[in-house]
Amino acid sequence: MPRFPDYLTGDGPTNPFPGVRVLERRLGREIPHQLGSNEGLDMPHRALRDHFGDAMAAHVYSYGDAEALGIRRRIAEQQGIPIEAMLVDAGADSLIALALRALVEPGDTLVGTAGTYPTFGYFARGQGCRLLEVPYDEGPSRLAPDLEALAATARDEGARLVYLANPDNPGGHLHTDADVQALRRELPDDCWLLLDEAYHDFRDDADGEFGRRILPGVVRLRTLSKAHGLAGLRVGYAIAEPETLAVMMKVRIHYAVSTLTQAAAEVVLDHPDEVRAHVAAVRERRERLAAHLRELGADVLPSATNFVGLRLPGAELAGRVHQALLDDGKLIARPADPALGHVLRITAVEDALVPGRLAILERALKEG
Ligand SMILES: Cc1ncc(COP(=O)(O)O)c(C=O)c1O
Repeated sequence: MPRFPDYLTGDGPTNPFPGVRVLERRLGREIPHQLGSNEGLDMPHRALRDHFGDAMAAHVYSYGDAEALGIRRRIAEQQGIPIEAMLVDAGADSLIALALRALVEPGDTLVGTAGTYPTFGYFARGQGCRLLEVPYDEGPSRLAPDLEALAATARDEGARLVYLANPDNPGGHLHTDADVQALRRELPDDCWLLLDEAYHDFRDDADGEFGRRILPGVVRLRTLSKAHGLAGLRVGYAIAEPETLAVMMKVRIHYAVSTLTQAAAEVVLDHPDEVRAHVAAVRERRERLAAHLRELGADVLPSATNFVGLRLPGAELAGRVHQALLDDGKLIARPADPALGHVLRITAVEDALVPGRLAILERALKEG
């Protein structure tokens, strides 16, 4: 079992403000007169009501549910993940920061992949950790985090945590459930696996049994930014053993997920058919975009996400294409890490498929 920092293993720290919603649940009844939270409960909010309507204004007055029970309940019902094995926070990014805060200490060694989703490294460095990055496993139609190298480095260097995005960003590669389990087995017992599943909902087998499993020594992260279209509202959830989440709760910013965000997420979760239809449309667009780029001779990577990754013959060309598109008002993604300077990433939105939208890239591909 991986360890927690010593200062988090005792009784405290204790959240001084679990909030009214949590208190009401503990008491088993509503508290109709809230006179103690110093909120602006009598603000008329005329401007806000004019702009957004009364329904929206109703959500902004009070501190929210620090336990986000409404969201957890819905996800538990839909996906079969136990409520007590879920923690809601302000997006997968916040959850990465929270996991680092709860699981590792400054100076600890962490291992990731050079060029993968860079927020992990950004937060790891910002917390004073020692970050080691292993190269991708690259081959024909393959740009995959190298699980053997991650495990070997973790063992050789005594790492406290390994980060894996699965499906990965920017390549879109999906490791099998068996591979992920094998990675967990190969890691030292006292090393955490932070499994970033921001793109989980786009997997063909997203509803499968493995997706709802609680894996010892693993913290899985998911988000409502992608398949649920709520990136601007900031909401995501972690899946882990309840004892692990209890430690994360000790250092969590308790009202980080706003009342409005929680209300909106609940409405969207109450309409799973709309989410399903969106995911199906994204997958279909992703395949159309990939096929189009392949026809032009591009080295398109297989993707289990809502984007398409492609490799150009060199970083210099990829840089030029990226810049020329930007100069023309079109922003695609190119990883900042030089290890993946030859990679471009295009989100599978309808706008990317408008004829001529990516003409600059298409010309570059034709010219070879
Ligand atoms: C792998 C990965 N993790 C996390 C995130 C951030 O998600 P959120 O919007 O929930 O913070 C992204 C967003 O692009 C991502 O690609």
